[in-house]
Amino acid sequence: MFRTHTCGELSLANKSQIVTLAGWVQKIRDKGFMVWIDLRDRYGITQLIFDTERTDAKTLELVKTLGREFVIQIVGEVIEREAKNDTMATGSVEVLVQKLTILNSSKVPPFTIENNTDGGEELRMKYRYLDIRRNPVKNSLIFRHKVAQEVRLYLSGEGFIEIETPYLIKSTPEGARDFVVPSRMNQGQFYALPQSPQTFKQLLMVAGMDKYFQLVKCFRDEDLRADRQPEFTQIDCEMAFIEQEDILNTFEGLTKHLLKAIRNIEVHQFPRMTYNEAMKTYGNDKPDIRFGMKFGELTDLAQGKGFGVFDGQELVVGIAAPGCSEYSRKQTDALVDFVKRSQIGAKALIFVKYGLDGSLKSSVDKFFTEAELLKWAERLGAHKGDLMLIMAGAADTTRGQLSALRMHLAETLGLRNPDVFAPLWVVDFPLLEWDEESNRFHAMHHPFTSPKPEDIELLKTNPKAVRANAYDMVLNGNEIGGGSIRIHDKETQKMMFNYLGFTPEQAENQFGFLMNAFEYGAPPHGGLAFGLDRLVAILGGQESIRDFIAFPKNNSGRDVMIDAPSKIDQIQLDELHLELKK
Ligand code: AMO
Repeated sequence: MFRTHTCGELSLANKSQIVTLAGWVQKIRDKGFMVWIDLRDRYGITQLIFDTERTDAKTLELVKTLGREFVIQIVGEVIEREAKNDTMATGSVEVLVQKLTILNSSKVPPFTIENNTDGGEELRMKYRYLDIRRNPVKNSLIFRHKVAQEVRLYLSGEGFIEIETPYLIKSTPEGARDFVVPSRMNQGQFYALPQSPQTFKQLLMVAGMDKYFQLVKCFRDEDLRADRQPEFTQIDCEMAFIEQEDILNTFEGLTKHLLKAIRNIEVHQFPRMTYNEAMKTYGNDKPDIRFGMKFGELTDLAQGKGFGVFDGQELVVGIAAPGCSEYSRKQTDALVDFVKRSQIGAKALIFVKYGLDGSLKSSVDKFFTEAELLKWAERLGAHKGDLMLIMAGAADTTRGQLSALRMHLAETLGLRNPDVFAPLWVVDFPLLEWDEESNRFHAMHHPFTSPKPEDIELLKTNPKAVRANAYDMVLNGNEIGGGSIRIHDKETQKMMFNYLGFTPEQAENQFGFLMNAFEYGAPPHGGLAFGLDRLVAILGGQESIRDFIAFPKNNSGRDVMIDAPSKIDQIQLDELHLELKK
């Protein structure tokens, strides 16, 4: 037997037993007459002890050849420690080694394999297999496994069937670029890797598999951020013979189950907010509702008093930062700098300090009376001691800028507590959004999303105002999932492609298979997909998904460990009939 126990399980209950352990050398403390080694495996650390009195000379010699990260196997007796370590699960015992076998040696690792390592991000990624030996990364992967297990348990319990769909497919538009794969057997033709299994899951509904799910890899060639990877995992789901309400309830159930099973947190409230409400109140379609600072519109109150920054603008809007009325000039200047950064691009930020004594002081005193400023305070829900922050400009842009400021302030004020979970549904998304670059409408969710029946007429007159049966689940300011009720008849789908600027030939060419399927008894259906990486990271109290992925890509989309992407040789290019541009 390679090992009788793991390095995380011995206790006083095993006292006097002869055990066999295997693992990596974490630490060596050599006092000459006595050597202690911390032996580590996935399960924990056990202290080994060797001494000149009780260990034979040959073993003692071998011990001297060990280095960090050597892989060893030992046989020894479990003894009670003199100095116990309460912070370790195995801290009451140590193993007095009788036999030591070196299973493999190790070079000195390029960074310390400890909770707080001296290795920078790039180095850790290059040696990710060493990084995963560290507790924080290892635990994140185990945590991910647990979440995935609970997802499967819950959905299977609700009657969902996990079905795999292919990875070598035809383009599915989800708003990013496709990764493509050249076909050797079909010269000049390419597969696309799925941005999501959207069309396949709809075909499964036509096929009668009325509750489908899949933990599935998706591939999107888009700009990367902390919460975005080029390949990521979705909990992809679809249901037939349902209404939007059924979907919201089912996945509210899943989220509640996960919060309970994983974090032991009960969430009763799942507020629903329309897209318009979210934009008006938080300037954002994924609002963080763990804290207030709701927007208050001041356009009618603040204009026409001769203040040039406000007059003539589409919107004057503000928030109240709790307890910040005493902010110094330096602090308010820092906020101005924040909103003027090119990523945010605001021109001005106006402050009104609502003192604890009820006084109202601002840089715009000349234009507004105290009574007027008090009305602003009411609109913004400001209390004594708060700092009001006001911006003006084009409505959509200004809301976006104020939203960035709101999140920044919340971060600074410690209002984004990772142990508090505030999920909500954002519903009634617009069906279409205008794309400046291509000068036409794009589907805001995807082209298979159904418009609200009562809004269909508006498609001809005011397409921007058409609402979709589309929804997102938002958790702590992050979009963790989104979906919609689908179009399930050929005519509506054709009409939709037409609005999106496809010619009938293009539509037929790209999506003929789906529209044909709709002619063979497609049931009403809808679904959604959660981003598993994001969900896991947020449940784990973090927003970066990278440490919850075993082998992630860096910000340039590279895997620095295996050095991909990389060139391929001429023979491979020739076989694929590919020629590289000079
Ligand atoms: P959507 O495009 O909204 O919907 O994606 C669903 C969820 O997937 C996650 N996600 C990502 N996670 C990490 N890295 C990425 N690059 C990335 N892109 C998306 C997000 C998002 O909410 N087929 C539809 C779903 C449907 O309509 O049923 C879809 O893919 O958490």
